[in-house]
Amino acid sequence: MAQSQLSSTVPKPDHVPDALVYDFDIHGDPELLVNPHGRLLDMARNAPPVFWTPRNGGGWVILSHAANYAASRDTEAFSSEFVPRAQMDAMLASLPPGAPHIPLPVPITLDPPEHTKYRQPLQKVFSPKTINSLRASIKDLAAELIDAVKADGACEFMSAIAEPLPVQVFLKMLGLPLERQEEYRAIVKEHMAAIDTDRAGSMRRLQRIAAAMRDTVLDRKDNPRDDILSMLWKIEIDGKPTTLADMENYGVLLFIAGLDTVMNGMGLAMRGLALDPALQNQLRAEPKLIAEASEEMLRRFTFTVPMRIIKKQVELAGATMMPGEIVKLLLPAADLDAAEFPHPDTYDLKRENNVHIAFGVGPHRCLGSHLARVELQVLYEEMLARLPEFRLDPARPPVFHGGHVMGIEEMHLVWDA
Ligand code: HEM
Repeated sequence: MAQSQLSSTVPKPDHVPDALVYDFDIHGDPELLVNPHGRLLDMARNAPPVFWTPRNGGGWVILSHAANYAASRDTEAFSSEFVPRAQMDAMLASLPPGAPHIPLPVPITLDPPEHTKYRQPLQKVFSPKTINSLRASIKDLAAELIDAVKADGACEFMSAIAEPLPVQVFLKMLGLPLERQEEYRAIVKEHMAAIDTDRAGSMRRLQRIAAAMRDTVLDRKDNPRDDILSMLWKIEIDGKPTTLADMENYGVLLFIAGLDTVMNGMGLAMRGLALDPALQNQLRAEPKLIAEASEEMLRRFTFTVPMRIIKKQVELAGATMMPGEIVKLLLPAADLDAAEFPHPDTYDLKRENNVHIAFGVGPHRCLGSHLARVELQVLYEEMLARLPEFRLDPARPPVFHGGHVMGIEEMHLVWDA
């Protein structure tokens, strides 16, 4: 179990009624670190649909499916611009010449209509057609990683398979050198762990990410290859060619999103499979069910928690939210909401209308969802085809982490070799 470290609390603002205060620390909640989706299920049942927590600087948490849906689509009240665009532009313009650029992850930190301009060029890169063309190479890599541990009868799943598979696929797509995988992952991990607690440091960390990519980014300008960085140099935004600053703004987001999401989904779903031998057998016998099963795993173990900042006073599920207040969209609890998913704790392959929001909703809906889906499905197919029944090692229980991308640090699987 990861060490639980609760953050300090702040006093609640006057406009928050006592009934809407609920103590939840997304990084250090002790229960979350032992059984994340057990804790989330308990919250979905027992906490107010929208509540205020005094942890991590204080802020709102949106739990119910309906409230998450509404907030995600209302970009006028629930903004993604933590630093308003005009303020950011003015700050960048005031920097002395030659000062390092402060990257602004785009399009995720922009609201429409500006957001649309920056999102549009990425659509093609992540289209189902582009991603399907990668399926065979993803399958080969998955097979290679699984075969490398098969004879051992055991593996630490995160480091042996869940991390290298999506990270190597994405480094290749982006155009970054595979040899630097460990260094890149260390930077991303540090960034994700500190998102709430060290806002001032966030800019420095983004600068570190941009610096780690800069050589390759500059090289692709003069020596284009078949990768995303080369493609981004060729686009136009507002009729103007891409600048190094644009490249860094795109680059930091793709780096973070591409190197830290899918592995958590893989870990959580594989734990679910390891605990459910009957499901493993069913999917081994009928592999064509895997695509559907993969969607139910995304719902059952949703794991990302996007943030918003209130731009204008708004009421949601009985809560009054004021400008400047921070909001967490607790999508993992929304996908366990019994009002939307009857018997949410049941893994139900025949669930009707599985409208889970693991990839978000509204204008920021995940651009990498096709890629993530293919990677997840291929992994389940290959694990089930190549390994006999696998289970958790009872001597070494999984280690979880909380945060805005919840997941597993370490998980030991065993099987009969
Ligand atoms: C299972 C894995 C993944 C999950 C669950 C996931 C989830 C999400 C969610 C919930 C959002 C919305 C954020 C918001 O509303 O603020 C998002 C946005 C985004 N995701 Fe993913 N993601 C995954 C994998 C990926 C991958 C592999 C990439 C590839 C780089 C990616 C790229 C992006 C981008 C670029 C956005 C921003 C879209 C925008 O602002 O318009 N994601 N993702």
